Amino acid sequence: MTQPQRNILITCALLYANGPIHLGHMVEYIQADIWARFQRMRGHECLYICGNDAHGTPIMITARKLGITPEQLITEIHQQHDQDFKDFNIAFDNFYTTHSPENQQLTNLFYERLQQRGDIVKRTISQAYDPKEKMFLPDRYVKGECPNCGAKDQYGDGCEVCSSTYEPLDLKNPISIISGETPIAKQSEHYFFQQQKYAPFLQSWLKDIKLQEEMQNKLGEWFATGLHEKDISRDTPYFGFKIPGTEDKYFYVWLDAPIGYMASLKNLCERNKNINFDTYWDIDSKAELYHFIGKDIIYFHAMLWPALLHGAGFRLPTNVYAHGFLTIDGQKMSKSRGTFIKGRTYLNHFNPECIRYYFAAKLNNRVEDLDLNFTDFMQRVNADLVGKIVNIASRCASFIHKYFNGELSERCADKALLEHCINAGDSIAEHFETREFSRAVRTIMELADRANQYIDAEKPWALIKETAKAQHVHEVCSMGLNLFRILMIYLKPILPATAKDTEEFLNIAPMTWNDRKTILAKHKINPFKPLLQRITEEQITAMKNEIAAEATPTNDTPQVSTHLTQDPLRPEISYDDFAKIDLRIARIVKAESVPEADKLLKLIVDIGGETRQIFAGVKSAYDPAELEGKLTVIVANLAPRKMRFGMSEGMVLAAGPGGADLWVLHPDEGAEAGMRVK
Ligand code: MSP
Ligand code: ZN
Repeated sequence: MTQPQRNILITCALLYANGPIHLGHMVEYIQADIWARFQRMRGHECLYICGNDAHGTPIMITARKLGITPEQLITEIHQQHDQDFKDFNIAFDNFYTTHSPENQQLTNLFYERLQQRGDIVKRTISQAYDPKEKMFLPDRYVKGECPNCGAKDQYGDGCEVCSSTYEPLDLKNPISIISGETPIAKQSEHYFFQQQKYAPFLQSWLKDIKLQEEMQNKLGEWFATGLHEKDISRDTPYFGFKIPGTEDKYFYVWLDAPIGYMASLKNLCERNKNINFDTYWDIDSKAELYHFIGKDIIYFHAMLWPALLHGAGFRLPTNVYAHGFLTIDGQKMSKSRGTFIKGRTYLNHFNPECIRYYFAAKLNNRVEDLDLNFTDFMQRVNADLVGKIVNIASRCASFIHKYFNGELSERCADKALLEHCINAGDSIAEHFETREFSRAVRTIMELADRANQYIDAEKPWALIKETAKAQHVHEVCSMGLNLFRILMIYLKPILPATAKDTEEFLNIAPMTWNDRKTILAKHKINPFKPLLQRITEEQITAMKNEIAAEATPTNDTPQVSTHLTQDPLRPEISYDDFAKIDLRIARIVKAESVPEADKLLKLIVDIGGETRQIFAGVKSAYDPAELEGKLTVIVANLAPRKMRFGMSEGMVLAAGPGGADLWVLHPDEGAEAGMRVK
C-alpha cells in the first residue's frame, strides 16, 4: 500500500538573529527535522524551510551595544546558526533571512493588497518615548513599579507579580532600560491592520482544520475577548523594511517575519528551478503547509498570519503545530542556575544524535513542556541506543566477519520475528505521521528488546563451538543484522548520521521506509565500527564546567546587561583564560575542498614536527591551491571536534566580514611553523 506522493512544505519559527541557539530552540528544529526526514523517507516531496528573523528593536540595540551595524550582527549570527543547525544534523532545504530582497518585495506586496482592500488604517497614538535616545520604546523596554500592586522592577506590558496588564506609561517611576531616563509620552502616526474584520473568516477556517486541543482553547479565549486592529508600523530608529510611501516608518517585525517563510522558499526556487513557488503558496495550492512553532507564538501563527495570508490572496496553512517549552531539571532555563545551555556548548561535549533521540523519546503531539535531565539523558541513551540497538549489530557482526567471510546467509533463522518487525513499521509510521514520536520510539525499543532476547536465547557464542551448528549460527547472526537494519530504518528520521554509518557498515543504499520489506541475503557487509559511544558522567561534568566558566553574574535578559560594550556571544575573559589559548604558526601542507560542504576546506598543517587536520570555513575566500605552502595562525589546543568529514584538530584564525573577504595568511617574514604567537 503506497500512498500517493504528497507535496509538503514545513516551516519552523524563524530564529531571532540576536543571540546563540539554545537547547530549548532545538526542540522545535529537531521535531520538525524528524518529521521532514520521515516524510522524505516515505517518498514524498517535503521541503523544510527556515531562516533568521532579522528585524526589530532588540537586534538594533544589540548591534548598537556591540558597536557594529545590524547587518553585520545578523550576518554573523546567521553563520553561527547555520553551522549549529548543520552540526545538529538539521536538514533544512533553505536557511535564509527575513532581511532579504525577496522578503521586502513580498512584504510590500502584502501591504499593497491589504491597502487595496481597505485593511490598513492610519491613526495617531501616544507612546512611551526615550528623550535621550530619541526613540519610541517597545513595552518591554520600559520598567517601573506596577500601578496595581506596586511590585518593583516590572515590565511595561504587565506585572509578573499580580498579572495585571497595562500600558508602559501607567507604570509608577518608569525608566527606559536603554538610557535609564524617564520616558515621556509622545505622539506619532501609526498604521493598523484591521484584523478584526477577519474574525468570522478565521473562525470558519479554524473549524475546517484539526488544531491541537490546547490551541483551540487558546483561540477560543481570544475570539471571546474579541480581535483588535494590529499596529504594523514602527517609528525610526528601527531595523526593518521601510513602509513604501513614508519617510521614516518601518514595518513591525511581526509583519515581515512570517512572510519570511515565503521569502525563504522563493529564494530556494531561484536557486532550484525544479521547485515552484506557486505550487506551495497559490490560493488554490494542493500542497500541504505546516508551521512548527513554540507555544509562545501561537497568536501570530493562528490568528494574525492566516488573516494576512487571506487578505493578500494566498493559501492558508494546512495546520499549525505548537510544542511546549524545554525545561531543565523541571525548571525554566536560567543563566544564573547554570541551565542555559547553548547548542554549541552541548555540541562541544556530546553527539547531536543523542539529544535528537532524547527529545524524540519525549515528544508527543500536544503542547506540553518537556524536561531534560542529564542523568536521565545519559541513562536513556546508553540503555536504548548503545545497550539495545547498537548492541545487536556489534554482537552479530563479529561472528559474520570471523566465521562467515563477512557475508550474510541466504536465509534468516526466524521468519516470524522478522515479519513481526516489518509489520510493526505501519504503526510506527502512523506514530511519526501524527508526531507521536515518543510512541514511535517506544515501539521501536520493544522490537529491539525482542531482537536482543532472540539472540540471547540462540546463544551464537556457545553454538559456534559445535561445527554442526555453524549454518544455524550464520542464519541467527544474519537474522540479527537484518533486524538491526529494520530498526535503523525506523530510527533513521531521528538518527540520520547513525543511519548513514549503518548504510556504510551494511554496505547498502540510503534506506527508505519501504526497504524494511526486503531482506539482506547473501550480502557482503563492511567491518563494524562502533556506531555510538556511551555517554559518561565525565562528559556531563565537563559540559557543566564549561557553562559555569562562562557564567556572568548578570541576569537572564541580555538587553539589560550592565556590560554594555560586551559582545553577549563572547563574554569578557580573564587574562588567565586568554593565556590558555595556544596560538601557533602553522604551515599549510595540503589544502583541499570538502565537496559536501559549502564553506569548508580541509587543511593539513604542520606546527613544527606535528601535523594536524583542520576544517576551516574559508572556501569562499581561497582556492585550496593558493594556500599550500603558506603560513597561518591556529589555535593548537582546541579540543578535537568530530565533524561529518573527519576530526578537526584545531582552529584557523581568520579575519574579515566573510564571503570572499576573509584572511587567514600570516606574513611569512621570519615566522616558522610551530612558533608560539603572543
Ligand atoms: N522570531 C520569532 C519567530 C518568528 S516566526 C515568523 C521567535 N524567535 S525565537 O528565536 O525567540 O524562537 C524561535 C522558536 O524557539 C520559537 O518557536 C519559540 O517558541 C521556540 N523556543 C524558544 N525557547 C524555547 C524553549 N525553552 N523550549 C522550546 N522552544 C523554545 O519567536
Ligand atoms: Zn502588580
